[in-house]
Amino acid sequence: MTRIAIFASGSGSNAENIVRYFSDKSYVEIVLIVSNKKDAYVHERAKELNIESVTFSKSDFDTTDKVLACLLQNRVDFIVLAGFLLKVSDNLLHAYPNKIINIHPALLPKYGGKGMYGDNVHKAVVAAGETESGITIHYVNENYDEGNIIFQAKCPVLPTDTYDQVAKKVHTLEYMHFPEVIDGLLKP
Ligand code: GAR
Repeated sequence: MTRIAIFASGSGSNAENIVRYFSDKSYVEIVLIVSNKKDAYVHERAKELNIESVTFSKSDFDTTDKVLACLLQNRVDFIVLAGFLLKVSDNLLHAYPNKIINIHPALLPKYGGKGMYGDNVHKAVVAAGETESGITIHYVNENYDEGNIIFQAKCPVLPTDTYDQVAKKVHTLEYMHFPEVIDGLLKP
């Protein structure tokens, strides 16, 4: 049984989708949702889904072992970043080698790095006149969006698409693939 913590900073629609996907699988349990925003909507979802959710400040993440202590206390052995906007600190990277994955809403290595998250990514894709975008699921290392790529999927970007239309297509890909990719990594 793999015990997962999902890290999320915002709405948490991916977090919810992952929780629902694994609800009937005996070999994975989502045991904790971790956020850096105490008013993020992901906490409402966690309540509905009956999953504990906790908030830590940026300085808790960056300069203390509080987050790690919480993960160890909850016997977490795999971490999924689903719309989590802080850099993962070194203590977590060392404690969870190759056990932290992230989803990015574009085709890395394009449109990655600091400041490239959520709608900023889709706006940049549209502004550049790209003809396609997509999702990248990758391992997390010490640099934003640079860990080894596990999976990518593409969608077309039409000349008439607005950034929120691109966002919708990308979210659809996320919901379709993210749980299955996690499943592929963790299935016994
Ligand atoms: C998702 O599209 C995810 O790919 C993106 O934030 C969104 C969160 O949506 N992540 C990043 O931009 C990370 N750089 P959600 O809170 O509804 O799951």
